[in-house]
Amino acid sequence: MENSRAVFGILRTPLIILTLGMLGCGTVLTDGTAQGPSGKAPLPANDRVISDHANKMVEEGRRIFRYDTFGSEAFWGDTLKLHQAIAGQKNGGVGPGLSPKAALAAGIKVDMDALPGALVQAIKAGKVDLEDPSTTLELLKLDAVVGIKGIFDEKKEKLTSLGLRCAACHSTVDNAFSPGIGHRLDGWPNRDLDVGTVISMAPETKPLTDLLGVDQETLLKVLKSWGPGKFDATVFMDGKAFRPDGKSAATLLPPAYGLAGVNLHTFEGWGSVTYWNAFVANLEMHGQGTFYDPRLNDAGQFPVAAKAGFGNVRNSPDLVTPKLAALHFYQLAIPAPKPPSGSFDEVAAERGEIVFNGKAKCAICHVPPLFTEPGWNMHTGAEIGIDDFQAHRGPDKRYRTTPLAGLWSRQKGGYYHDGRFQNLASVVDHYDQALNIALTQQEKIDLMEYLKSI
Ligand code: HEC
Ligand code: HEC
Repeated sequence: MENSRAVFGILRTPLIILTLGMLGCGTVLTDGTAQGPSGKAPLPANDRVISDHANKMVEEGRRIFRYDTFGSEAFWGDTLKLHQAIAGQKNGGVGPGLSPKAALAAGIKVDMDALPGALVQAIKAGKVDLEDPSTTLELLKLDAVVGIKGIFDEKKEKLTSLGLRCAACHSTVDNAFSPGIGHRLDGWPNRDLDVGTVISMAPETKPLTDLLGVDQETLLKVLKSWGPGKFDATVFMDGKAFRPDGKSAATLLPPAYGLAGVNLHTFEGWGSVTYWNAFVANLEMHGQGTFYDPRLNDAGQFPVAAKAGFGNVRNSPDLVTPKLAALHFYQLAIPAPKPPSGSFDEVAAERGEIVFNGKAKCAICHVPPLFTEPGWNMHTGAEIGIDDFQAHRGPDKRYRTTPLAGLWSRQKGGYYHDGRFQNLASVVDHYDQALNIALTQQEKIDLMEYLKSI
């Protein structure tokens, strides 16, 4: 032992010199201004290639996430004619139209950064008619409506179609101007958006009734059952619109932030982020792309998907696949939002962290700092003390351990896949009973403060 330590002692100095020499070498290869790890030396050439690529991917991914429709206007506009209901008869469409006031009430958000200064002033002065659907058309022309793209004729007068974007459900705004109007918050779930009510405005619903094999009345009943902040992605696979207890089978719109490092995604763990991005762009938004998943050919579990051939979708040109890499990259780049200072009790949160990692055993599944399991992050309903209905709608028949960071920013709509627990207190009470933890009142409070802090 003594001898080997002595040998290492002798070797250590030359090793350090050698290592520093190798690091220094890299700087010789560069000519740019990018900074190396020391902050002084420029980045070696290949490192710069990677950093430049990362920046480009984030920019491109942001554009795709906010603005790309993946060709979905062929469905929502050209086929379902949703744009006609938005425009209203007065503007060449059908029915009363959708006023900005009604759009905001349905949870549709407006990006204030897309509004010209003069318009902002006019709105502030009360000179803009928020009851008039023509104003909605103006907002669409300015591309200020989050997640919805209006397509106009050449003269930019008539609304001729309408496409859907990821941002509709996975972005909101900070209400900086007024409720529903503000700066974009990409990745935050829009828990105000009433997706079912918006879809139910469509004048033409035959493609949806045909897909689900139901009549118009049933379709409307299903769409109306979702409510704000919810959507049922799986009903278009299995046709199950209601749970055994008769309540809607819709799930909450989940956040699209804090996803890096997390293995499986969606409440049922269908696949990775990019798996699900392709799934949703093709099968839910009805974009024009390519999608392959033979699990959907199982007519027993997924009768709707199997009949529609969702397990193997091929479109040419492919408007989805070329966008998947940057879209994936951008989503992984969105951090979970940090809680505002003062929004929780720091001392209690520190005690709560000890409960979370110790007595309450939360960290066994919600492993910090990811707050989900590295590996196969899936559990049966019994393991978390709930029913298996929603788990059984996914291929693995399990629930994915939700990554908890940013919990404070998604209180609206409740917690768990269907929002069954209205607040963190009921989540903690649920675990306390279901997993027999026997928490004291103080431990419960501390645990809640910790949950608000992550
Ligand atoms: C109509 C609303 C809606 C639109 C539009 C939408 N999503 Fe989603 N998204 C959902 C719902 C609902 C879920 C949860 C589905 C489930 O778990 O069964 C979800 C889940 C996800 C998840 C999984 C998050 C997690 O839990 O880890 C990602 C990632 C995602 N969507 C990305 C996208 C992208 C990218 C787009 C655009 C291509 C998109 N979504 C468009 C409603 C939507
Ligand atoms: C056996 C693994 C497991 C354990 C132990 C566990 N959880 Fe969970 N947790 C899950 C799964 C799976 C979900 C997703 C449930 C759903 O969406 O229906 C979840 C969901 C949650 C949610 C809801 C998140 C959201 O955005 O809706 C919270 C909050 C939560 N857990 C907190 C805790 C706390 C606190 C503890 C300890 C008392 C704990 N969990 C213990 C697996 C676990």
